[in-house]
Amino acid sequence: MTLDLNSLRPGEAPDPADLRVRPAEPRDIEPLARLWDVAFPGERPAEVRAKALEEGTDALGGRETCWVLDAGPDGPVVGGLRLYELEMHLFGQPLPATGVGALAIDPAWREQGLGSALLRRGLRIARDRGDLLAVLYPMRTGYYGRLGFGLAGELHRFRFTPEELPPFPGADAVRVLSRQERMDHIPEHYRRFTASGHGLITRGPRQWRHLEADDCLVARVGEGDEAGALVASVQPNPGHLPSLHVREVMVDTHDTYRALLGWLSRQGEAWDHIVWDALPGEKFEQVLRHPRLPGTPNRRGLWFESATILRGPMVRILNLPALAGRLGVEPGASVTVLDPDLPDNSGHWQGERAPSSGSIGVHLARVTEDISGGAAPGAGALPIGFLSGLLVQGAYPALTRASEDFEAALGISDFRLWDVF
Ligand SMILES: CC(C)(COP(=O)(O)OP(=O)(O)OC[C@H]1O[C@@H](n2cnc3c(N)ncnc32)[C@H](O)[C@@H]1OP(=O)(O)O)[C@@H](O)C(=O)NCCC(=O)NCCS
Repeated sequence: MTLDLNSLRPGEAPDPADLRVRPAEPRDIEPLARLWDVAFPGERPAEVRAKALEEGTDALGGRETCWVLDAGPDGPVVGGLRLYELEMHLFGQPLPATGVGALAIDPAWREQGLGSALLRRGLRIARDRGDLLAVLYPMRTGYYGRLGFGLAGELHRFRFTPEELPPFPGADAVRVLSRQERMDHIPEHYRRFTASGHGLITRGPRQWRHLEADDCLVARVGEGDEAGALVASVQPNPGHLPSLHVREVMVDTHDTYRALLGWLSRQGEAWDHIVWDALPGEKFEQVLRHPRLPGTPNRRGLWFESATILRGPMVRILNLPALAGRLGVEPGASVTVLDPDLPDNSGHWQGERAPSSGSIGVHLARVTEDISGGAAPGAGALPIGFLSGLLVQGAYPALTRASEDFEAALGISDFRLWDVF
């Protein structure tokens, strides 16, 4: 059925079954670019977007990632969405996942449920193509929470002068790489690191273009499998020395981690200050001599401000039994799930030994789809968004056996998806 938006009036909710969502065609590029220019003002002009879509030069792909909500065969483009095909590493396992981006609805058609309906349709498309998880950076967590996404990650942003870092040993072995060395070493270094970096996605050449930028700085210590590296960008700081924003740290051992920090501690003549986005598990406040954000007053009694918390991304389970099968299930594990948008995930599930072929494998079997009885919301059924957040954080070990065997870099299994989209 085709949705006739002309027959709708503002405030009148359309029937989601009427939505026409289709892959973008060449004729959609310009209207989509205009829609996204209006929806995300100040990012980049419509012509630049259109060119990137046509040539497929965006970090995660071109037109093939775009989906359109339209008002019939000759109707206007009313909404757009990008569904990126990713491979995401959870607890060391590479899993097919969809990166959701650029959800937008024409301003004339907002607040009628079209955005949610388009995203719901996108989730169904993603599940049907075999993806197990969807991931996005939210503009409003509540909006995506209602659509089944749970918060997965967090960074603590510290700002400090180099002298605040202890002069850890190993700094002499740290080298700043040339542009060519960055390109030669870092993608391969990252590829090895994905196995121990929970949440990281497999990256191709398009996700490494920032290594060629003039403002990129990569410091590296050690060789081969033992190497550790940080990737940073140099930011101008009018009237002062530039500052250094550390975007990514890829280290497996505490020695290389400390060597890089020791090197940074000596850079007082190069950088005015450093911005470091730490994973909570780094306990970075324990590293700094004076872990207090410069220029901030005490907010409450004797407490001081130390870091800014950055939250995101959000993750959603698309296919619970398949995901649990990949991550490993405890025999007898059980969970009752409510997922109105992807009802294949709803029901009461139990870890059962596979009956066939004498296998010792355990899979998640649906005991009943009916959760209306004792398992209604509020009576024990977990909303899929809540389960998604818990599961990705490894806080549901019965459904994530892999989380127990996972050897995380530095022993820190915090989720660390990079904000490339
Ligand atoms: C975000 C965006 C896609 C939402 O589109 P939309 O069609 O308005 O989305 P919905 O109608 O599903 O939901 C929007 C709000 O309207 C409410 N709503 C939904 N149907 C409604 C109806 N029939 N009547 C009144 N309100 C309704 C929703 O509850 C929601 O409320 P909230 O803001 O408190 O969460 C749109 O605002 C947009 O394009 N924004 C700019 C781009 C952007 O920020 N994209 C997200 C990137 S992460």
